[in-house]
Amino acid sequence: IAILPENYTIRPLRRSDYSRGYLDVLRVLTTVGDISEDAWNKRYDWITSRNDEYYMLVVCDGADRVVGTGSLIVERKFIHVLGMVGHIEDIAVEKGQQGMKLGLRIIQALDFVAAKVGCYKSILDCSEANEGFYVKCGFKRAGLEMAHYY
Ligand code: ACO
Repeated sequence: IAILPENYTIRPLRRSDYSRGYLDVLRVLTTVGDISEDAWNKRYDWITSRNDEYYMLVVCDGADRVVGTGSLIVERKFIHVLGMVGHIEDIAVEKGQQGMKLGLRIIQALDFVAAKVGCYKSILDCSEANEGFYVKCGFKRAGLEMAHYY
């Protein structure tokens, strides 16, 4: 299991992470846009009201700034006798903190939760450029992603 650098922590997302740089960490991944604190609070409340479905983690540095994040969404199915599938989403580590095993630590923590709650697998979509990272995290290429944008 990957060890965090000294004084770093991994924990569930908090409402107050709005002012700890959470959205800036997500900006390494894609466009985030301007999100007011009010809009953040509404979405945070929606997500945390589904706390057996949404597991959102952050890694913080010694100064309690958010430097990494990742989410697990647990999908309940009918197939495989009411099976559950984990969807790993929005993994991001701040530029200056990449290569310190923080991404690996985030995936290990999400994998642990997925197995613990009873998922029979976890899946994710990524670019070819990130394949090697996920292989190091224990994932293997399976299938093909299709998308329909609206
Ligand atoms: N290709 C091949 N190997 C890689 C890559 C890569 N792109 N990135 C990391 N690795 C390797 C590392 O070298 C390390 O190998 P080692 O154990 O032999 O030393 C291992 O994977 C673990 O790497 P970490 O240090 O944990 O990776 P990091 O903390 O930098 O996080 C991440 C990786 C999340 C991809 C980060 O670079 C990042 O935030 N990138 C920009 C955003 C992004 O692309 N996120 C993923 C989107 S896909 C999704 O969210 C489902």
